[in-house]
Formats: sequence, C-alpha cells, structure tokens
Amino acid sequence: MARTVRVAVTGAAGQIGYALLPRLASGEVFGPDTRVELNLLEITPALPALEGVVMELQDCAFPLLDAVRTTDSAEEAFDGINWGLFVGSKPRGKGMERGDLIRENGPIFVGQGKALAKAADDVQVLVVGNPANTNCLIAKAHGVGGGIPAERFHAMMRLDQNRAMAQLALKAGTRVESVTNMTIWGNHSATQYPDAENAQIGGRPCTDVIGHIGWLQGEFIELIQQRGAAVIAARGLSSAASAANAALDHVRSMEGKTPDGEWFSAAVASDGSYGIEEGLVFSFPVRSSGGGNWSIVQDLEFSDFAKEKIQATEAELKEERDIVADLI
Ligand code: NAD
Ligand code: LMR
Repeated sequence: MARTVRVAVTGAAGQIGYALLPRLASGEVFGPDTRVELNLLEITPALPALEGVVMELQDCAFPLLDAVRTTDSAEEAFDGINWGLFVGSKPRGKGMERGDLIRENGPIFVGQGKALAKAADDVQVLVVGNPANTNCLIAKAHGVGGGIPAERFHAMMRLDQNRAMAQLALKAGTRVESVTNMTIWGNHSATQYPDAENAQIGGRPCTDVIGHIGWLQGEFIELIQQRGAAVIAARGLSSAASAANAALDHVRSMEGKTPDGEWFSAAVASDGSYGIEEGLVFSFPVRSSGGGNWSIVQDLEFSDFAKEKIQATEAELKEERDIVADLI
C-alpha cells in the first residue's frame, strides 16, 4: 500500500511557497509511491490569496496529491504532520542583513514551536524563514519543551551549499554534480564559511582542481556569503525558486541515505562537535541513514584560516541567541 506523507508549509501564499508547493505535490520529493497531503498555514489576511494557490494546485491534477488544507491556525496546520517547512516570515530588503529581521520574525517561531509539539510527534522541521538558524533555535526550544527531540529541527543551508557547488563547477569548467562534500559551516548569513578545503571535484581535492587558493579564500567565499543580497539587489525580491529548490533538496537528503563517503550541509543542533557550543543551530557536514536519522561527519581537518572563519560564524550565532534570549 502506498504511504502518505503529510507536509505543512507556513507562509504558503508567499514567493517561496508558490515555487515549493507544485513540486512537493508532484511527487518528485517523496517518490512515485508516496501520496502527499499539504497543510498550508498563512496569516488571516493572506488566506484569500492562498485560495488562488489551492485552485492552481487542483488545476495541476497531480495524481499523488490527496488533500490540501488551508488555515490560519498553526495547531491545525501541524496536525499529524511528518514534515514542517517553516517558511512564513518577513524577507529582508535591500541594505539589510538577515539578522536585522530577528526581533520581528523570532516571535513567530515561539508560537509555532509550541503548536508543533501539541499537534505532531513523528515530525521533522526545516526552518527557512530568516534568520533561519536562530528562528530554528527558538522553534526547537519550544518543540523540545513539548517533547519533540532536538534533532528533528533543522535550518536551511542547502541554498548556500548549492550556490557554492555551482560556482566551483563554473570555475573548474565542469559539471555541478562532480562537486561533492561541500560544507557550509555556521550561520546562514554573511559570516557563513563555505569550506573548499574539504570539498571535492571529480573525487579530487577541490583546492588541487581549482589551484587558486587566493580565489578560494577570497572572491569565492564572499560571492557565496553575499549571494542572497545580490539576488535581492537584482530582483528587488529575495530568492524564491532557488530557495524552494534547496528546501526540497534538504528534505530529499534527510529522507534518503547519503552515498558512502559523501555528506551535505544542514544546520542542526550542535552536540559539541568541532568545539561548537552545544545547542546552537549550526551548519555542519551531515550524513543521513534515511528516515530522519542523521549524524555529523567527524574528523574533518582545517587550516588556521578555516578555524578563524568557523569561530567568527559561531560568535555571530551566540550574539543572535543573546538577542532572542527572552524568546527561548
Ligand atoms: P514572502 O513575503 O513572499 O512570503 C512570506 C509569507 O509568509 C507571506 O505570505 C506572509 O503572509 C507569510 N507569513 C508571515 N507571517 C506568518 C506567520 N506568522 N505564519 C504563517 N505565515 C506567515 O517571503 P518569501 O520570499 O517567501 O520568504 C520567506 C522567508 O524565507 C523570508 O524570511 C526569507 O528571508 C526567507 N528565505 C530564506 C532562505 C534560506 O536559504 N534560508 C532563502 C530565501 C528566503
Ligand atoms: C537567500 O540567501 O537568498 C535568502 O536568505 C534571502 C536573503 O535575505 O538573502
């Protein structure tokens, strides 16, 4: 018998929601033998617009889409869900850092963390709304308080990973799938550290293939750190298609088994690995054995340059945590 996966998407009438929902409903994430139910959460004034999105989902006639429910109640939206994609929150505008959104968006994740713990048990959560790591820290605090294990909460770093893989492939003049083991360390912010030292291209060290350490430690890192801002400057709106794509990649990676010797990037609750303070939602190299069981890849080695970058992004996450101390 086909299994059914129930997925909640918050902020479902927004830009990312529009790019995300048809692909979730198409079956491309959970596979052709899994039926999909969508629970869509929006703030009350956005419910009429959300009805238009629902009409479009119906009009796609997706064979695997069993149900679409809309609501402005988080508890209703999270009822019995297997995945929660927490997108709903305000995006930054030109000239802002993602962290500037923290006091405005942070409170959303208090209520949603609590509602999740009341409504669901066997659930995994991906926080996309910015600042994603610290919003996830808030949701985790309330989810764990209600009995959901901390390891079920993740924040999205996959867009940064995908951006880094694409730029390395362009530089090396090769295909993107030959870039593997691309770790983004730390925060989804301008302090993140895209780690070329441990990445590979065609199974060889990325540093050997690119052969230009100055570019890898300079232009490359800045390009990835500033890519979100560059998209906003060009589009007048933040990334949506690539963000939705990355969210789906994250879910697929967590649901599946990571190929031997490989890993992907995800922000998860630190267990103290690599000296990162326990509990911070920090991006690490992660492997999945399927069904939501993941572990942090251990024993990667770093130069002093990398160590400094990793410390800087950890320091920023501690500062963000202190700013929302009253919400945790
Ligand atoms: P958007 O403004 O188009 O849509 C956001 C939606 O969230 C709106 O429809 C709004 O009504 C809804 N919303 C607001 N508060 C809500 C709440 N309490 N409950 C439910 N829904 C709520 O924005 P977008 O472009 O879809 O981006 C959404 C978020 O994702 C932003 O914070 C953005 O910065 C972030 N983002 C993160 C990444 C990442 O890599 N982590 C990438 C891109 C965007
Ligand atoms: C991104 O990286 O594109 C998103 O986090 C949106 C932003 O504010 O940059």
